[in-house]
Amino acid sequence: MPECGYPSPYVVDTHANRPPLPPRLSRKRQRLGAAQTLLFMLVSLALFGMFIEAYLIYHFHISEYATSGSSSKLIADVNSPTERPSDVLPSKPVAHLTGGQDVVHKSHIMAWSINADPTLYEMDYKDRCLVFQKEGYYHVYSKVYFFSSEPFEHSIHWRTKRYKGKSIPLLSSTTHPESSHRKKGRYHSFNSDQKSNSYLGGVFHFYKDDAIFVHVSNSSQIVRSKPFENIFGAFMI
Ligand SMILES: *[C@@H]1O[C@H](CO)[C@@H](O)[C@H](O)[C@H]1NC(C)=O
Repeated sequence: MPECGYPSPYVVDTHANRPPLPPRLSRKRQRLGAAQTLLFMLVSLALFGMFIEAYLIYHFHISEYATSGSSSKLIADVNSPTERPSDVLPSKPVAHLTGGQDVVHKSHIMAWSINADPTLYEMDYKDRCLVFQKEGYYHVYSKVYFFSSEPFEHSIHWRTKRYKGKSIPLLSSTTHPESSHRKKGRYHSFNSDQKSNSYLGGVFHFYKDDAIFVHVSNSSQIVRSKPFENIFGAFMI
């Protein structure tokens, strides 16, 4: 009994009153629970702080990339045309077409890629032609990349219901292979894969349902390795 000094209050308590023990125990538990909650909160706070820190470090790195002129992010954006702002619509009709592996050129008329996600707003692309939905003045342009050993012609033609029959050339450019090779008498062997670019641009008036297309002297000579090397577009001014 002397060594068991502890149970005596218990005995006394039980005699005096039944319930005193459970509240004591629960208070102890409550204190333990409060301590656990406090610990949990502290750990959470520490973790939260770590997350904030990680987030700030990440942001700092991103902004550093952006301001230091690193082109990695820009290149990534350029190579994925799907990252265009989809909620921003042009204020006027616009079209921009590019080349691609899916295009099938006619011998003289160039085709443009559908898979390359072309920009087309209030304009149609039909049967290798850009078709106007709205009458007005448009800036029209095209660039092609080609190889040729002979003079290469690149032009933009206009087709309208108002003039039946042949299409009307609007812009044209003829590129001649470099003459220095010809002088040396090695014209054919040297120029067989001489590459050049041709760019055309101008402003014209079009009616609804008018169509324009890109005509070349030989579409087999178009270099088709990269989609953005051959382009065709128009926008209302
Ligand atoms: C068109 O170009 C290709 C490739 O250079 C050539 O083989 C072909 O003979 C050319 N066609 C014409 C009609 O000149």
